[in-house]
Amino acid sequence: MKFPKDFFFGAASASYQVEGAWNEDGKGVTNWDVFSKIPGKTFEGTNGDVAIDHYHRYKEDIKLMAEMGLDSYRFSISWARIIPDGRGEVNEKGIEFYNNLIDECLKYGIVPFATLYHWDMPQILEEEGGWLNKNTIDAFVKYAKVCFEAFGDRIKHWITFNETIVFCGHGYLEGSHPPGIKNDPKKYFMATHNVVTAHARSVETYKKLRQFGEIGITHVFSPAFPVDNKEENVFAAYHANQYEIAWYYDPVLKGTYPEYVVKQLKEQGIVPDWTDEELAVIKSAAPKNDFIGLNYYQPRRVIKNNDVGESSKQTRDGAPGSASFDGVYRTVTMPDKNYTKWGWEIAPDAFLEGVRLLKSDYGDIKLYVTENGLGDADPIIEGEDVDVARIKFIETHLKAIKKAISEGINLKGYYAWSAIDLLSWLNGYKKQYGFIYVDQKDNLKRKKKLSFYWYKKIIEERGENI
Ligand code: BG6
Repeated sequence: MKFPKDFFFGAASASYQVEGAWNEDGKGVTNWDVFSKIPGKTFEGTNGDVAIDHYHRYKEDIKLMAEMGLDSYRFSISWARIIPDGRGEVNEKGIEFYNNLIDECLKYGIVPFATLYHWDMPQILEEEGGWLNKNTIDAFVKYAKVCFEAFGDRIKHWITFNETIVFCGHGYLEGSHPPGIKNDPKKYFMATHNVVTAHARSVETYKKLRQFGEIGITHVFSPAFPVDNKEENVFAAYHANQYEIAWYYDPVLKGTYPEYVVKQLKEQGIVPDWTDEELAVIKSAAPKNDFIGLNYYQPRRVIKNNDVGESSKQTRDGAPGSASFDGVYRTVTMPDKNYTKWGWEIAPDAFLEGVRLLKSDYGDIKLYVTENGLGDADPIIEGEDVDVARIKFIETHLKAIKKAISEGINLKGYYAWSAIDLLSWLNGYKKQYGFIYVDQKDNLKRKKKLSFYWYKKIIEERGENI
């Protein structure tokens, strides 16, 4: 079987991780420009000031993507390039940059897929309370409208937010992303609700413009599975999925928050401060949401947390081994599973199982895998990046996607993370994801990896031999 004709074989990136040019052409300072420079916050103090200089080298990068045969490129727009102070004047130079980037994609027939918010927020807004301040919702909707009006003639696929659970969880529970607040569930839930509201209002705004494209949101897709059939562990997995899947997917797809979570938040006095008007727009926008983007890296294997009193104990970034913020469950590693060098489980089968569950909970909603990939310190042999492990990783995940499609799951595209090696938020440049190698020691020179040639062939054959 070949993948369907309208299936996108793509690859992704995010503005802060690739662009650089942090203070050029009128761009405003972002929360990440500031946060990454606080000593100890990022691996070896890396920051996105230059990143991989995509801002100046986008033509070269897109040419390489075209040579690889990408159907589509998912990138994010930096809010502070478009509206430097978050809510005021539009920066024409910022509009010009993304116009050029989009036109360059279209020149090669690459479909641009844009994310409006991949975590870099104008610093002024962060200082005014960021996602805790309801004015940020208005500012975001204005920014979204500016983008729809400027680029909507050519961009027909929009993602509002990338991974709300990550930037809110790291921002208000773990303190490892801006604004760096630790263990504050009340703020965490408040921020997530404001983001959901901003998403809903942006969907409404987009649909009113009648641009006839599609709009959705990208969520982390990390379904929880119990390690065994013990009742307490089965319950732990249920609890995890309510808080980390349903809390995010329900308001977007069903228009309401999951009762199970709302009830518990009420009991703890940490229910977000929401208004009837906000709940109403979440409800009215849900049927207009066109798709969900899934960022799938790994599932979670969970058990009941027996370490009473311990919560939010973090292990290495993203690796299993920590207790949930409420101390109810913990994620664990299992001896019979495979893990990456950074301790993330490699489990294409869990993806398949997860999307089956998603279909049974949410019906036939259109899905894109908006991120999936292997973070590795690639082997370099005689100057060549021979990333065989990445090929294997992507191949097995594409196989799971093919199976899902054959079962009638509405999966319309796959965006490998990432198109090109880029800056990892907390892991610097040592953790690579791309098809294109960027030589940090030689003027950021681009070089094709083994996976580049492999993915090119997969796309040419429309995945027939997977
Ligand atoms: C996703 C993000 O959570 O994971 C990406 O959307 C990120 O921006 C990717 O780079 C990989 O994370 P890490 O920590 O391995 O760089």
